[in-house]
Amino acid sequence: MQPTRNKPGRSSGKRMLAGLAALLAAFGIHAAKAPPWMDAKLSPDARAERLLAAMSQEEKFALLYSDYAMPGDPKGRPVPKGALISAAYVAPNDRLGIPALQISDAGLGVANQGGARPHSTATALPSSLASAAGFDPALAREAGAMIGAEAFHRGFNVLLAGGVNLLRDPRNGRNFEYAGEDPLLAGSIVGATVDGIQSRHVLATVKHLAANSVETGRHITSMQIGERALRESDLLAFELAIEHGRPGSVMCGYNRVNGEYDCESAALLTTALKQDWRYPGFVMSDWGAVYSAAKAANAGLDQQSAPSFDQQFWFGPPLREALARGEVGQARIDDMARRILRSLFAVGLFDHPAKPSAGPDDVAGHATVAQRVEEAGAVLLRNRGDVLPLSPSLKRIAVIGGHADKGVMAGGGSSTVWPNGGNALPPMPPAKFPGPPVFDPSSPLKAIARLAPQASVQFAEGGDVAAAVALAKSADVAVVFATRWEAESQDAADLALPDGQDALIEAVAAANPRTVVVLETGNPVAMPWLERSAAVLAAWYPGSGGGEAIANLLFGAVNPSGRLPLSWPRSLAELPRPVLRGAGEPESAPGLAQRIDTRLDLDIEGADVGYRWYDRTGRKPLFPFGYGLSYTRYARDGFTVNEAGGKLLARLRVRNTGARAGSEVAQVYVRLPDGSPLRLAGYRKVSLAPGAQAQLEIALEPRLLARYDEASHRWVIGGGTYRFYAADSAALDGAQQVELTLPRRVL
Ligand code: BGC
Repeated sequence: MQPTRNKPGRSSGKRMLAGLAALLAAFGIHAAKAPPWMDAKLSPDARAERLLAAMSQEEKFALLYSDYAMPGDPKGRPVPKGALISAAYVAPNDRLGIPALQISDAGLGVANQGGARPHSTATALPSSLASAAGFDPALAREAGAMIGAEAFHRGFNVLLAGGVNLLRDPRNGRNFEYAGEDPLLAGSIVGATVDGIQSRHVLATVKHLAANSVETGRHITSMQIGERALRESDLLAFELAIEHGRPGSVMCGYNRVNGEYDCESAALLTTALKQDWRYPGFVMSDWGAVYSAAKAANAGLDQQSAPSFDQQFWFGPPLREALARGEVGQARIDDMARRILRSLFAVGLFDHPAKPSAGPDDVAGHATVAQRVEEAGAVLLRNRGDVLPLSPSLKRIAVIGGHADKGVMAGGGSSTVWPNGGNALPPMPPAKFPGPPVFDPSSPLKAIARLAPQASVQFAEGGDVAAAVALAKSADVAVVFATRWEAESQDAADLALPDGQDALIEAVAAANPRTVVVLETGNPVAMPWLERSAAVLAAWYPGSGGGEAIANLLFGAVNPSGRLPLSWPRSLAELPRPVLRGAGEPESAPGLAQRIDTRLDLDIEGADVGYRWYDRTGRKPLFPFGYGLSYTRYARDGFTVNEAGGKLLARLRVRNTGARAGSEVAQVYVRLPDGSPLRLAGYRKVSLAPGAQAQLEIALEPRLLARYDEASHRWVIGGGTYRFYAADSAALDGAQQVELTLPRRVL
């Protein structure tokens, strides 16, 4: 039909349609005219403006809060009618066609703590640390698109997914939800995940702005940090994630920064986010993070989430009263509503409404996505005498501990996914938030047995050390699975594996020198037995395809290519804050507030988080950021860095000099002329067949060569001689080096 559209016949067709409309009108039937904001050709800003102009004050205020939408509301309210059971809900506006907002946690897959919701299972991604360790934004985007698709099919259109808080302390119980210690890596990986989610017309939320660095005292602690240090670290991660992902929403956190609550901080929400970064979307609060109406609104908070968690329904009557008193202007109320609407248009929530049960998930296909994220992100830390990869012709394999017969561990709290297939283990404490602990039903034991069909693969659960030792003694190789459950709302007391697992590993390693340890943890842990082990694989929390991924890595069906997104400490003593008072205690512990430091001095390390701290103090971690072994070897040469048209480009050649296919992560670090510590300025993962080589071009992020100038709010490349390193970790062992002199430049 298309070609005839502009031909003469069109006007007679038009006349016929007009006649038909007149006839229908005579019977009282009027053809609905799409309202002006539904013109998809207009920009999201123009559409939001038109819709706003049609809204009453009541309708605007209705957008400025969400309702908690799970049973167990802190104020006893029922789940709102029309809400899917989830973190929050905003009722639709039928008069104007504004869709309901069905809001779910989804950092690691569509969350559904405790399987509360009917038909509530979903694909569990591995820990975000695994996504970060993959150093592969394209894969992170694919994983995001998978979550987006699952959310969309369940009717969710807003996801609380996009944790990008920098890892400042390896005791933080939520580090598994975040993407490590480096702003460039975290920002690019989380930005790609957000972009993937939103490609499915589901709005994503980058969180928790800002410096939500530990869980201990998260509602009261103030993070003390200078403006420049914050901009060059945690805020840079947000800035980059927002640029890459363009999230519809940003969540302000629970903690305070320099005395000001995150959700009342004009410095964070308005100056940095909305002015300096020109963020056009909206800010929602964390659940129970709001303490005022006028102050929060004027600071830049646009939507109060689940007011039942706050002392008051601040963005209800108190905000209206503040408006009446002139403490908040009408322009700001309009701005709040406009920002929300603009994001809904930008992500496509009006034009592509999410539909519950729009179709079954591709469960197997999605598990494969989760499996690939784990395969790309598990990090091989040690491989003495090439004990790995295991040979499929082994006769006897001992698998020990970690419930490896049933599945793989997941982290706890609001991000927990009730996995397809259900919890692999019977209920374990804590029954209540942040529990119950979940194991994804992807058994490493079964996957190992599948890859070694001729072997006798035996399992010992590990509680009985003597039985585990006897099994290990009789085997060609012993694979010990060690777990540590970590969760939102609580930090770990230290780096130790719990429940006597160190003693178990020592005993097994003494019985069998070919002992391989697989760690399922939310953070780096102490490994007192390291020298006695043959190999160690950091598998993080491995997700829905975790068992298969681990087996593939152990047998070399997949060559390990994950690289540490964090510095693995030898002990807490080498950290900026060796002591974290109250760490290890649950949030509900009586009197906890009196036992913690309510002001944490982040200026000790300032912007020098992780490997920068080690660089600055001249210490060496146990394993450096960027480190990870492979079953092949790589060589780098031909490293150059050039500036053209204001863009910085590194070039280098990477060769696979070994006998197996594999993926290498080329990392480019820079030292600034002002003597500040090392920074990752660019990276690229590349897959290479044995003997193959690739010429890589890596765009370097100019802000990593710059310092933040507080007075002008600009990034300034200071000028001078910059030293660049092409390396395979932040330890810079065997790195190629070049120097480049750059003039002073304001970015
Ligand atoms: C967490 C957020 C989460 C929210 C909703 C809070 O406790 O800090 O990350 O999105 O709950 O479940």
